[in-house]
Amino acid sequence: MPVTQFRGIAPAARLENVRYAIRDLACIADEVARQGHKILPLHIGDPLNFDFQTPAHMIEAVHQAMRDGKNGYSPSSGVKEALDAIRGEATRKGIANIQDVFVTSGVSETVDICLTALLNPGDNLLTPCPDYPLYSAVLAKIDIGLNTYYLNEEDAWQPDFDDIKKKITPRTRGIVLINPNNPTGSVCTRKMLEQIAELARRHNLIIFADEIYDKLIMDDDAHVAMAAVAPDVPVVTFGGLSKNYLAPGWRIGWGIASGELSVIKPYLDGVNKLLRARLCANHPEQYAIKAALEGPQDHLLEVKRKLRSRRDLTMKWCAETSRVSCVAPRGAFYAYPSIDIPEGDDVFVTELIRQKYVTLVHGSGFGQRPGTKHFRIVFLPDEKTLTAAYSAIGDFMRERYR
Ligand SMILES: Cc1ncc(COP(=O)(O)O)c(C=O)c1O
Repeated sequence: MPVTQFRGIAPAARLENVRYAIRDLACIADEVARQGHKILPLHIGDPLNFDFQTPAHMIEAVHQAMRDGKNGYSPSSGVKEALDAIRGEATRKGIANIQDVFVTSGVSETVDICLTALLNPGDNLLTPCPDYPLYSAVLAKIDIGLNTYYLNEEDAWQPDFDDIKKKITPRTRGIVLINPNNPTGSVCTRKMLEQIAELARRHNLIIFADEIYDKLIMDDDAHVAMAAVAPDVPVVTFGGLSKNYLAPGWRIGWGIASGELSVIKPYLDGVNKLLRARLCANHPEQYAIKAALEGPQDHLLEVKRKLRSRRDLTMKWCAETSRVSCVAPRGAFYAYPSIDIPEGDDVFVTELIRQKYVTLVHGSGFGQRPGTKHFRIVFLPDEKTLTAAYSAIGDFMRERYR
């Protein structure tokens, strides 16, 4: 037998830029939990970790699909019943000029496919700063440098429109808008959506509108879909079952492509090539889409009631705590306070886990304006857990920064 001398198998160099602070912090939390401490988890946006449950009629729809033998591969774009339901929902949201609809393994896969299908080496895509880190991870994976625009804390975290204008280059192909936003919880104004659409028209940009939290608006105002204010502009709207419908583990997301057909068609041919190459999304779970979008929506009342109460408790704590200030979130389940401390926000969250067993995510994990410091709170836990966590964070800050 020849003896082979293996050397270390190096990962691709471009992975240097793949970061996912949320799951990285979970590793530290796991280490602390292994030492026997009870973690107060304010870092992962999975409602199923807390007192939220997937609606029973959705579970029944998937169960029935499995019993009915829907266990093979599905068409690459998704099953017709689900696609029709998504089109219906898009129409209810005022989206016209729908040119294609497709189902994916979570919005995560929609993002991966839509970005990969668009960008050539040297192109760039405008992404928000702070942002949901999947976008920069996918861009790193396909070797595309970052071109970020700021969200403006002084303007309730609306996109900084002047910064967007400044950042457009001849190689800018599109813009990502996360609305409602992770990590800030902000909701875009209609005026801002119209301004961004106008910029897209002038510079021939496609808009990726990540609206995965569109039904989780805590106050009474309605969510305005980007595509609804700009029927002529190429837009792919992202949605899914993970957040609005409390089924993140099923990995069901979708894209709704709208705009002038002749403009968006060549790009959609590329998207469909990638959809076919990965075969299909989870098949039986696709049967929950119609049940979710067309069935009872009662769970949303309960979810929003809990979120409002937990958001208000969070804001009260922020207002009463020195060194902390926070723009009130209006959508999703995140708050993004700024913090005035003499050390990095990454040190703050790491020491907080180790000393008080509370997990937050540091602002530098999402990107932020130089010189500013933040942390992200997921306010999904119940009031008792949040109160205990805020009390522990307060103690930590008093002890560390007196
Ligand atoms: C803004 C945003 N987009 C996409 C995703 C990924 O969603 P999915 O579970 O559908 O992959 C998340 C998850 O937290 C998110 O916050």
